[in-house]
Amino acid sequence: EFEDKTAQFILSWAFSEFEGKVALASSFGSEDTLLIDLIIKTNPEASIFTLDTGRLPEETYKVWEEIESKYNINIEPYFPDAAMVEKIVKEHGPNLFYKSLDLRRLCCKIRKVEPLNRALSGLDAWITGLRREQATTRAEVKKIEYDSGKDLIKINPIADWSEEQVWDHIRKHEVPYNNLHDQDYPSIGCAPCTRALKPGEDIRAGRWWWESPEKKECGLHK
Ligand code: ADX
Ligand code: SF4
Repeated sequence: EFEDKTAQFILSWAFSEFEGKVALASSFGSEDTLLIDLIIKTNPEASIFTLDTGRLPEETYKVWEEIESKYNINIEPYFPDAAMVEKIVKEHGPNLFYKSLDLRRLCCKIRKVEPLNRALSGLDAWITGLRREQATTRAEVKKIEYDSGKDLIKINPIADWSEEQVWDHIRKHEVPYNNLHDQDYPSIGCAPCTRALKPGEDIRAGRWWWESPEKKECGLHK
């Protein structure tokens, strides 16, 4: 019943249905900064958090500050557990993600998934910037889903938006965006696991580019 509803409608519904128990997960990619714009106009008190893996590009910290300053908000940062990071780096080296799929997943688990679980504890629902067009793994995303792995409601208000719609909104409302988007980075994660696209590549090709498309998820979205 939500599939034909607008992003604004879904956000208003979410803040009234899950009052104080819903938050946006922001990586400060184009989808997330646009969602912050929509969210703050819907509910200026909304909770927004980010997972700072410790390996983010400088440009991400820049837009994080621009967003806080433009909307006069504080974004809640979640960091990985220091002892866990020390252990994997000691055992496998600082760039373990290039060594095997298992080690890449271990790094994502410790730097992203475990902090996400802490960020979501106590919430009833979370909001993401997932879009169906982004990847084969995301083609079935619904606007409102039950996230069985986390036992939470998952809200994807722009699941059906095209990339063009995202950029139309960003330009029209002068939303701050990550400067890497101007350098052929449509999808931005950690610095060592994200590269610019080459001509003709699809929008996720620059993420974990050494892996095959069906494996390119870090465990945040199962
Ligand atoms: S990822 O799983 O491949 O890293 P992607 O970068 O496409 O995900 O982002 C999809 C959505 O996941 C974002 O819109 C955001 O809701 C959430 N997300 C991804 N990375 C982070 C992060 N570092 N902090 C908070 N949320 C994130
Ligand atoms: Fe580690 Fe790369 Fe995953 Fe970031 S994206 S948590 S650096 S493996």
